[in-house]
Amino acid sequence: MILEVNGLSKHFGGIHALTNVSLSVAKSEIVGLIGPNGAGKTTFFNCITGVYHPDSGKILFGEYARDITHHPAHKVSGQGIARTFQSARVFASMSALENVMVGTFSRTNASVWSALRCSSRMIEEEHAVRRRSEELLRFVKLGRRAFDVAASLPFGLQRRLEIARALATEPRLLLMDEPAAGMNTAEKAELLELIRKICENGISVLIIEHDMKLVMGLCQRIVVLDSGEKICEGKPGDVQCDTKVIEAYLGKEMHR
Ligand SMILES: Nc1ncnc2c1ncn2[C@@H]1O[C@H](COP(=O)(O)OP(=O)(O)O)[C@@H](O)[C@H]1O
Ligand SMILES: [Mg+2]
Repeated sequence: MILEVNGLSKHFGGIHALTNVSLSVAKSEIVGLIGPNGAGKTTFFNCITGVYHPDSGKILFGEYARDITHHPAHKVSGQGIARTFQSARVFASMSALENVMVGTFSRTNASVWSALRCSSRMIEEEHAVRRRSEELLRFVKLGRRAFDVAASLPFGLQRRLEIARALATEPRLLLMDEPAAGMNTAEKAELLELIRKICENGISVLIIEHDMKLVMGLCQRIVVLDSGEKICEGKPGDVQCDTKVIEAYLGKEMHR
């Protein structure tokens, strides 16, 4: 397993956002995390990425199942976990290329001193960062938009840019929070292909998504949350037919 979460709980005052949730992701696996609004999905990501401290439970990551439960956000990212947000977060006034370079720089070794001296090593590294960032832009099919200001890109492309920036940190696990929200059918189809390609490159994916067609077509395994509790886990076909899952969704997203 690349990620193993055991018995995670988190409450906010009287709200039990997560109660005893366990979930694992294997290497190169795509796992879906679904559930009605308010089920605790984003809170789950926030606990893994060190935005929130869970009240109890353990988060183990990597081949050696390292305990990262209370690691701060920057340390979690350094371990190899990247994330995209429920509403795309890009640096609006920077170019697409600069957005990705920001992510890549977090991976380079040039010290502040060498940067100040503008050493040849620094220049060399900047070239490498640029090349790598251009490559990532091509990977998400934004190669021709490298010099466009991020804010000027259509919504669907901003989401792909955010993915490129997340990949620039060289993650082993990518957490995606509703990446298809607001996308049209064509954009969703491209997203599906992109996520598959990411997985083929050896990166595991844990994806929160409301679009059932996308989730069912993409994920090997699905975990369902409702009111902070795991109510079901299994293969897409089995989860879809589960009575608890159907009840949880009745009158909610499934009819959107
Ligand atoms: N920072 C917070 N403070 C208080 N309540 C929160 C906070 N974050 C999330 N919650 C609550 O936790 C529950 C789960 O929210 P969330 O994880 O965003 O659900 P989902 O992503 O599944 O829609 C909701 O009731 C939400 O209001
Ligand atoms: Mg959410």
